[in-house]
Amino acid sequence: MCGIVGYVGEKQAQDFCISGLKRLEYRGYDSAGVVTLDEKGKATLLRAKGKIANLEEKLAANKREDKIGIGHTRWATHGEPSEANAHPHQAGPIYLVHNGIIENYKELKEHLKEHKFKSETDTEVLAALVNSFYKDGKYPLMNAVVQALKLVKGTYGIAAVSTKSPDEIVVARSGSPLVIGVGHDETMLASDASALVGHTKRAIYLNDGEVARLTKNSIEIKTLNAEPVSAKVEEIETNLAAIQKGGYDHFLLKEIMEQPESLKETLRGRVNVKEGIVHLGGPGLSETELRKIKHLVIVGCGTAYHAGLLAGYYIEQFTPEITVETVIASEYRYRNAYIPKDSVALIVSQSGETADTLACLREIKKQGVKTIGIVNAIGSTIAREVDGGTYVHVGPEISVASTKAFTSQVIAMVMFGLTIAQAKGVRPGTLKPYVEEIDKLPEAIRTTLESVRKEVESVAKKYAKYEHAVYLGRDTAYPTAMEGALKLKEISYVDANAYAFGELKHGPLALIDDRFFEFALVPEGELYDKAVSNVQEVLARGGHMIVITNTSKFDLPVEKVIKISSDCKLFAPILMNLVAQLFAYYMTLAKGNNVDQPRNLAKSVTVE
Ligand code: M6R
Repeated sequence: MCGIVGYVGEKQAQDFCISGLKRLEYRGYDSAGVVTLDEKGKATLLRAKGKIANLEEKLAANKREDKIGIGHTRWATHGEPSEANAHPHQAGPIYLVHNGIIENYKELKEHLKEHKFKSETDTEVLAALVNSFYKDGKYPLMNAVVQALKLVKGTYGIAAVSTKSPDEIVVARSGSPLVIGVGHDETMLASDASALVGHTKRAIYLNDGEVARLTKNSIEIKTLNAEPVSAKVEEIETNLAAIQKGGYDHFLLKEIMEQPESLKETLRGRVNVKEGIVHLGGPGLSETELRKIKHLVIVGCGTAYHAGLLAGYYIEQFTPEITVETVIASEYRYRNAYIPKDSVALIVSQSGETADTLACLREIKKQGVKTIGIVNAIGSTIAREVDGGTYVHVGPEISVASTKAFTSQVIAMVMFGLTIAQAKGVRPGTLKPYVEEIDKLPEAIRTTLESVRKEVESVAKKYAKYEHAVYLGRDTAYPTAMEGALKLKEISYVDANAYAFGELKHGPLALIDDRFFEFALVPEGELYDKAVSNVQEVLARGGHMIVITNTSKFDLPVEKVIKISSDCKLFAPILMNLVAQLFAYYMTLAKGNNVDQPRNLAKSVTVE
């Protein structure tokens, strides 16, 4: 969602802020702004509705050599996307940017009668509140920020500067990430480490309840209760290539095509094919603890939720005497769900910052249940708050539509399931086929992507005239169909919904007419014949079907059959999902939509 950047040092702050904001564009935004201060404290505030390019136009006419500044991309929550609502917001000498939501802003506003509000935002209330404690520079900026934040209810990542002290930036966080970049004679900040890549490799991840004062060569961190914090400097692992398009037209296509490599990173050092076992160090559970697990609760949103559903199907296949419940975080956090003590919760999140998922994690921890993160973003809030975890290591995922993370999340969770099964003494013969296929999967993904890409492109072009789609599958192909439908709807804006094949007769069959096409996943296996019968039911009602299958047996006269590699049978749905990802990509291109930044959506959903 919103993005924050900031710079204090020897270089041009405007340049740093604009390039940093561009790196954060993928998170989704509708307006942007930057303020810089010259040595005497004269502020240059530039804000624009829409894309950063609009802000750049203003900047071209207002170029400054200022060496301190903060910038922001806003994703509207309070008030429409407009220049007036864009950050930074000003109150007296204070300029402030903010990610998150100030829940009690109306109440606070009541006490800030002296300030003339110019926007509808909760952030301007916070700026005015800081200013009310700052007393025109009578008190240090850091103290004023702390006093203000003590009154705030809600979530925030903030950065503030003052025209009275143009050599310092004060930042703070509670529930919204902030990373400080440590340089030589320069200090940077961002809400996401990708904005710092190429400038420094050294970062400090601020914790909730911490506030920091940054100058070009000092970083002072303390808690809101004034306890000093000794900062841990960590290395930023991401490199520039990982956050560039690398010759592809869109991040989405790049991320789909890099799945053979990204999955290899997930598997690195964790699979022993010879012995037919997997080894995950991160969860940190002993053999005894693993043996005691009776229930798995898998929590996530969107694609992460689908990954959890699919992994759950697999884990049930090879782990006896265990129940798996996969839940949508935004629902689960408000359910009065009892979790038995012999449970483990898997907290699944690419960004590691999703507000609902984080809320569930905290709730589950309160119940005394062990939490294991299946996270991509290193150092993210979820990664730091779980009891143990397995990073999926797919590298930055920039496109709003999640692709490579899904594949690796599923496999990481299956590996966790295998770890439990191994500890519970499940016969190695039962587990070995899974381990062998996991090991072969990166190569099967490579050959599948290569063999179907052109074909899927031409099929997608033909179906781009449709506005409605039904995705269908059984068993492991059902959550895969759900994921395929989500991908199509979020970027092509086609109204796509997924159903379990067996549910057709209970309602969805009534939809079948010329306005719809059907995208069906029909893998070989125990339920193949049943899925084929379902395909017949749709055909008999004049359906316009595309069938994805991994067997040449399939011979029904559907409009299009896309045959994928049969190398991996157990994980055929993962390969079928590649077809769904490419299909959504090419359909979106054909419709002319913004592929990487679909309307109304953000990459990292840090508010509820
Ligand atoms: O960062 P997370 O994995 O927690 O994000 C969860 C969802 O917001 C995310 O998967 C979303 O559904 C994607 N845009 C789907 O492509």
